[in-house]
Amino acid sequence: MSWLKPPNVTSVKEKLQKLPTPPKPKFPEEPPPGPTQPTFWKSPLRGPWMTSIIGSALLPLVIICAITGFLSHAAYNPALGDNSFFPAGGIGIDPYFFSWPTRPTFLYAFTQGSHIIAGCLAIPILFAKLWSVMPKLFEWPPLRSVAHMAERISLALLVGGALFVFFTGLLNIQVYYPWKFSFVPSHYYAAFVFLAALALHVSLKFPTIRKAYRERGVVKPLQDDLEHTVPEPYDEMTTTALEPSAPTISRRGLLLTVGGASAGIGLMMSGQVIGGPLRKIALLAPRGRQPNSGPNGFQINKTAATAGIEPSKTGAGWRLKLVGATKAELSREQLLAMPQYTYDLPIACVEGWSTTQSWTGVRLKDLADAAGTPGASEVLVQSIQEFGSFNKATLSSGQIADEQSLLALKVNGVDLSPDHGYPARVIVPAMPGVHNTKWVRQMTFQEA
Ligand code: HEM
Repeated sequence: MSWLKPPNVTSVKEKLQKLPTPPKPKFPEEPPPGPTQPTFWKSPLRGPWMTSIIGSALLPLVIICAITGFLSHAAYNPALGDNSFFPAGGIGIDPYFFSWPTRPTFLYAFTQGSHIIAGCLAIPILFAKLWSVMPKLFEWPPLRSVAHMAERISLALLVGGALFVFFTGLLNIQVYYPWKFSFVPSHYYAAFVFLAALALHVSLKFPTIRKAYRERGVVKPLQDDLEHTVPEPYDEMTTTALEPSAPTISRRGLLLTVGGASAGIGLMMSGQVIGGPLRKIALLAPRGRQPNSGPNGFQINKTAATAGIEPSKTGAGWRLKLVGATKAELSREQLLAMPQYTYDLPIACVEGWSTTQSWTGVRLKDLADAAGTPGASEVLVQSIQEFGSFNKATLSSGQIADEQSLLALKVNGVDLSPDHGYPARVIVPAMPGVHNTKWVRQMTFQEA
């Protein structure tokens, strides 16, 4: 009965020991010279309190950006037609649950202006936050365990996500695209990664934040002038310095400098939203300032030349095609013969600028009637512009029905200029600027 004999445990162990073991990443115990050395970082201001207070200033701004960013996506009414930037509704969590309203008329100017202002305010604070945690980015050994590796990956997503989201946003406001990818989907998807990593980060750091505020008070360290500025006690698990140098600025001095930079940028960006004399200081917003004088002298996102609009297509031969239960073709003279309405409405761009002008034209609901489709459920508006993502837009029933929604023929009492969409453009209260299609050629109404 030899097959019942128990296996020889010693020989199994020996055999197992002979198997090749997977190589472990090995780092020398002593960190290499430079930023991985704990004595490299000298600032006496770094520590959990400093990081917590900077993080606490950053968090509300990120929350404003997140809410207004998702609202901006909702403002495109992504469930309608080809309005969504994402195939089949993106990753399925687009805020489709409501139709973007038309009141208050400044709604999009407000939400998108807040998005841009909060994002720009956050940039100096983000730099300060990264400065405050810099020693941790050079932590030694770089990988200690599987849990440590998971934490480092989440931090890479947090820092990388933050830098990507804020800097693509900043360059977009500058109308500068030094990349080959499409801005909106990249900025939008990266925001999910960044926000998820941030939620994890803040929850993991919550005990550290609470301890720092409990031990040192939330604002008490701000009372210390330079003479009374002492380092937070050293703890190798935090960003405190092992061998701090003497302070050259107090904590409140540092925070006032960062806050001043942030407020300065915020004020400049607010000029393009609030307007008036503040518009002159919108130095960092290429489209924020008034480019010219005269009734058509206000901001232009895309000129007729950039959009490839040939004058031959907008001249006397131009006709507006209406498609609905019936079909109609209207010349500009016929449109001018219809009842005309004038409203002061803001036009608000996704880049953050907005401006209120006096628009005159035909109500969209009158055009729906003219197409034999009263109470239309939606309308597809198409431009003469042949290329580009915004040469068409689908508007909702609420947007068609609003009495202030116009196919504008005039602005500030004169004909639209070619750059503002002559012969006719859409202007709908509270709608993102790019959906107010210029150089309209066709409107296709859907029956309810
Ligand atoms: C853009 C957002 C943020 C980025 C990129 C960021 C980045 C980082 C990094 C890389 C670390 C070092 C890793 C570590 O200590 O484990 C860190 C630490 C920390 N963060 Fe953040 N963080 C952000 C937001 C916040 C917010 C909103 C808060 C608080 C409300 C916060 C509080 C902290 C605290 C308390 C620490 C520990 C500091 C220390 O150990 O001395 N962070 N952060």
